[in-house]
Amino acid sequence: MVNHWMLVVDPETYKPGGRVVGLSERWKESLLKVEPGDLIVTYMAKRSEFVDISKVVEGYHFDDSGKENGQPHKIRITEVFVPEEPIDAAELVSSLRFVTNKEKWYVHFNKAMQEIPSEDFEFIWNKMEHRKGIMGYRSNAKRREQIERQLKKRVPTGVPGLDEIIEGGLPSNSSILVTGGPGSGKTILCMQFLIHGIKNGEPGIIISMDERPEDLRREALKFGWDLTKYEDEGMLAIVDVSYPRSGLPSKEKYKMSMPFTLDSIVTTTFDIINDIGAKRVVLDSLPAFGLHFEDESEVRIAIHRLNNLLLGSDCTSIITSEIIPGHEGISRFGVEEFISRGIILMELLKEGNEFTRRMTILKMRETNYKLRMYKFKITNKGIKVLPTEVRI
Ligand SMILES: Nc1ncnc2c1ncn2[C@@H]1O[C@H](COP(=O)(O)OP(=O)(O)OP(=O)(O)O)[C@@H](O)[C@H]1O
Ligand SMILES: [Mg+2]
Repeated sequence: MVNHWMLVVDPETYKPGGRVVGLSERWKESLLKVEPGDLIVTYMAKRSEFVDISKVVEGYHFDDSGKENGQPHKIRITEVFVPEEPIDAAELVSSLRFVTNKEKWYVHFNKAMQEIPSEDFEFIWNKMEHRKGIMGYRSNAKRREQIERQLKKRVPTGVPGLDEIIEGGLPSNSSILVTGGPGSGKTILCMQFLIHGIKNGEPGIIISMDERPEDLRREALKFGWDLTKYEDEGMLAIVDVSYPRSGLPSKEKYKMSMPFTLDSIVTTTFDIINDIGAKRVVLDSLPAFGLHFEDESEVRIAIHRLNNLLLGSDCTSIITSEIIPGHEGISRFGVEEFISRGIILMELLKEGNEFTRRMTILKMRETNYKLRMYKFKITNKGIKVLPTEVRI
């Protein structure tokens, strides 16, 4: 569910566009309730004007590394709509439900961040749209429809047999965990998902932790996927992490900068998503990403933030993880499975003298699926899920 908020900003410090909002301890409780995808109307204090509509791309995180003092409680937002002229709040107060004291209406605008009724939010947005926006393609009802449609849409994976068992695809704007042992087909599934998007006009990103970009390109070619061509067309970004991780210079256009901090990862990912207008993101794989953090709690926070970022962008993402044999839980850090909207488990099972591949949908929000194992194959066209169900 999308919640609606009003953020009060100061004319001196207000910067439009994608930005990080930092507030003091007093607002921490409110910020903790803010979820990626929530919508915000920005109110300019002193001028008493509504100045923009923004969307939350990353939920609550603590970061006191910046210069500003005393405002370490943060969320990241991006602009959705800016009216040509700001809207005078005084004109609207008579219709706003959260303004209960119509005389001293300004007392309702003294909180840095507060939740407001969706009717009020809609009302303000409608007023803004009435005056032409300045953000071109982002500034009209069409864009709004697009956001609403996306909330319901499915995103086909392009894996034959898989889309059929999950109502046509992954829930859009979700982050799905694909987990399995080594060689179970995770990377191939991810690439297939990206290629399918690209062929349908949706740019994609793969953040490749273990595999070198050149290896990915070579392996993909075996399935007939010409990654270089899509990169040249600006439809695909391969983000190199493998060279920087091993301390070697990367020749790639897109790379993770070193040193590897949580903020640099989130910021780089965010920038690349905006740069190519990505609709699909793959992070392959999480365990490799964990190697650079001191302790597991840090990794958990990192996973949480990345997941929030991915959920809050307009992208549908796949994150891969690995199963540790003999270990409880289905993923390396034990948190991914709780934060992902869906989990696909890929396995290689021994049956007599033969190995067979199995896929199980362990979780898929907003989807009616059967808890069954399905056999799948890897062929020279990629992964294909067979209709045979195997009871668990
Ligand atoms: N053309 C092909 N036909 C059939 N199987 C193939 C083909 N190419 C690769 N494979 C199989 O795909 C598997 C590798 O898949 P993939 O790299 O996606 O696994 P993974 O789960 O990402 O592994 P890792 O955990 O090591 O990254 C190999 O086990 C190989 O047997
Ligand atoms: Mg792999």
